[in-house]
Amino acid sequence: MLNLTHSHSRMTLSASDSPRIVLGVAGGIAAYKAVEILRRLRESGYFVSPILTPDALRFVGAVTFSALASEPVRTSLYGDPTTPIPHTYLGQNADLIVVAPATAHVIARYAMGLADDLLTATLLASRAPVLLCPAMHTEMWEQPSVQENLATLRRRGVLVMEPDDGRLAGNDSGAGRLPAPEAIVTLIEKIVRGGESSLLAGRRILVTAGGTREPIDPVRVISNRSSGKQGHALAEVAARLGARVELVTTVGTELALDVRSRIVVRRVSTAAEMAEVVFELAPSVDAIIMAAAVADFTVVPAERKLKKETGVPEVHLVATTDILLELTKRRLPGQVLVGFAAETDRVLERAVEKMRRKRCDLLVVNDVSATGVGFEHATNEVHMIDRDENVTTVSLRSKEAVSYEILSSVATLFSRGEL
Ligand code: CTP
Repeated sequence: MLNLTHSHSRMTLSASDSPRIVLGVAGGIAAYKAVEILRRLRESGYFVSPILTPDALRFVGAVTFSALASEPVRTSLYGDPTTPIPHTYLGQNADLIVVAPATAHVIARYAMGLADDLLTATLLASRAPVLLCPAMHTEMWEQPSVQENLATLRRRGVLVMEPDDGRLAGNDSGAGRLPAPEAIVTLIEKIVRGGESSLLAGRRILVTAGGTREPIDPVRVISNRSSGKQGHALAEVAARLGARVELVTTVGTELALDVRSRIVVRRVSTAAEMAEVVFELAPSVDAIIMAAAVADFTVVPAERKLKKETGVPEVHLVATTDILLELTKRRLPGQVLVGFAAETDRVLERAVEKMRRKRCDLLVVNDVSATGVGFEHATNEVHMIDRDENVTTVSLRSKEAVSYEILSSVATLFSRGEL
């Protein structure tokens, strides 16, 4: 699955102009796959300049790369008489820098702005878009430090291709495997053509966020523990991916500066207010993501404050409109609807039942009883269920990183709708 965003302008290429790609290879077992990436890029007509880090040289040989590349491999900032300042030469001339595999160490150094070898110095000396293809053991991939470094880089416009699940070094398997060279090259081609760098360009997306507040009287409310963090992250990431976003939220928040102009915020409080605004906006959007925890029940509030002298009040609950269910009935052709579910028991089973009942295109479920998941946390782990009841699990990571996964799936649903 892809996580894509960058703020650079599209590249325009004339036919005679071979796009120039710097292929950075870091020291991991997947470095051998970079040979195949290089070969495929050359076959597709790219001018490829490889940079191997000193650690990469422990896994693969420079000669192999030099034999296939457009110019000899470079491995150091120093000692090449033909190119006295290699990092600026490579950085300034690149149309795209790809790091495959990107190790935890290279990701950390890049996030920190270090320039202690030719690869990191070139990354710093360039305004070209950057695609990182991380590959590492699952334990390393899931480290908050790694995920936070990637979140930082994404915020700065770096593209990150999610690793696959599969065989890793040794006898291990899990998340962290470098995707197939073919998939990486396909993505590179899309980026160079300028198509996929803004995965949701031109789309209008409505996101709901936060828990609704149902007043009992002028003072008291019935609410829930939703903090709105996942919904707000979805709104920000959708905007970074090029969408125009309507955010209907019960929570006040500072949205990130870089995306503020692309997100229109509508503050609401009750389920009924949320329903009204969502139904008003629904006909003009391409996708609706119902991340809000909407109350299933509300109260006809007392006009005056309930006093305890008059005894324990009887609160009569009435059902609210199920916004998502109603949206599935009013759905425009091609409109994508995403529902959320918070479960504590028989999570997947219940989620599949909910999917059938709500008939949305994607249901994102989290087990809110698990550690670090759901309400109020900065992290989340979700399962995404599609209409065919295929389940994709997004392991524990920041809500921002989870948002990239959900929005990548939304983009896939858009493209399917267009077939
Ligand atoms: N939802 C909605 N309108 C409501 C209630 C919920 O649109 N009145 C949406 C939520 O935004 C979320 C999904 O429906 O996307 C949650 O489904 P729901 O069946 O309400 O799940 P729970 O609240 O977890 O309820 P339960 O497990 O009891 O079915």
